[in-house]
Amino acid sequence: MKRVVLAYSGGLDTSVIVRWLTERGYEVITYTADVGQGEELSEIPQKAKASGAVEAVVEDVREEFAREYCLPTLRALALYEGKYPLTASLSRPLISKKLVELAKKFNANYVAHGSTGKGNDQVRFELSVWALDPDIEVIAPVREWEFRAREEQVEYAKKHNIPVKVTKEKPYSIDRNLWGVSIECGPLEDPWQEPPEDAYQITTSPEKAPDDPEYITLTFKEGVPAALNGKEYKKLSELIEDLNAIAGRHGVGRIDMVENRLVGIKSREIYEAPGASVLYEAYRDLLSLTVDRFTFHYFLTHVPHEYAKMVYEGLWFTPLREALDAFTSTLAKLVTGEVRLKLFKGSVSVVGRRSENSLYVEDLATYSEKDAFDHKAGKLFTQVWGLPLKVLGRRRKGS
Ligand code: ARG
Repeated sequence: MKRVVLAYSGGLDTSVIVRWLTERGYEVITYTADVGQGEELSEIPQKAKASGAVEAVVEDVREEFAREYCLPTLRALALYEGKYPLTASLSRPLISKKLVELAKKFNANYVAHGSTGKGNDQVRFELSVWALDPDIEVIAPVREWEFRAREEQVEYAKKHNIPVKVTKEKPYSIDRNLWGVSIECGPLEDPWQEPPEDAYQITTSPEKAPDDPEYITLTFKEGVPAALNGKEYKKLSELIEDLNAIAGRHGVGRIDMVENRLVGIKSREIYEAPGASVLYEAYRDLLSLTVDRFTFHYFLTHVPHEYAKMVYEGLWFTPLREALDAFTSTLAKLVTGEVRLKLFKGSVSVVGRRSENSLYVEDLATYSEKDAFDHKAGKLFTQVWGLPLKVLGRRRKGS
């Protein structure tokens, strides 16, 4: 018997996939992860089995997702093309890892996913699976099957008694987890058109956000967000969820961009990442306070862009990612302290910071009478530092 573990969301596509695989002689085991998509998953097993699955596994992986995927990405300050906090990209390696584990457990030689042939997710799933077990074969029915329109899938589902919710279809394709929401398709496909308000899932529009700013304090312990407004969190996932709610109310974390997909297409996508946006601002600020200039500049030059590309391009399970994590973990040890932030009508700004590891020295920075900086040293330093330009200037002047 050919056995396959399928990444299953419970939506129309993956429900149809269960049946489609069954018809082709596969025994299907479904895997559904709670990554904080905010959906009720209790009916998933029943639904999967009604579609033809022999076994349905549902697992809450929110904390693992937060600690092992979101946190390292935060510490790298990774934003794809300078903007996208990699929300959807990050859940794929985690889900792939689980698929491989289940394939071992159930003696399956195949895993399957519901991604299309023109997106990034197929690449992330497949590269992650192969990095963990190259002998597993990956099946992507959506790339192969005969259905062209959604109606044909609904028709097929009805014919085979696959439970589908007959809700009016939203024009958007939405991928949501703890770290944020990715939204594409429908009216968003015109990059000139402003996203309709109903495209946004977890943020209030800045226009409708409260007229008064809200101040919050985030506490970090060795690079881990540990408390929000003085309240300690054992679970990082819960802190992120609470932060999403607070910052979301103020319209923080909306991102609208045209991005370069791996397969060569430019696509317009919008994102909502209220909690992540606040954490990025706060982490960056505390890092710049506690890390010396040489290290901070090296980090900024070499890590955020490279790390973001790796996550986006499906290279999570690589020694390079692990090595960069080792680097950012070393810096993270210094990131202890508090950051005060102001949330107001779509914006988040750091308004205060303090740390026991702070390298800010008031006596050196001040322009008051307490000034302890040796201004004569400034003169000599400038002479030496500027020497090459003086020489260049002479040459240009022809003297
Ligand atoms: N473009 C984003 C990425 O490649 C999100 C993909 C999933 N988005 C979606 N709306 N289904 O990571």
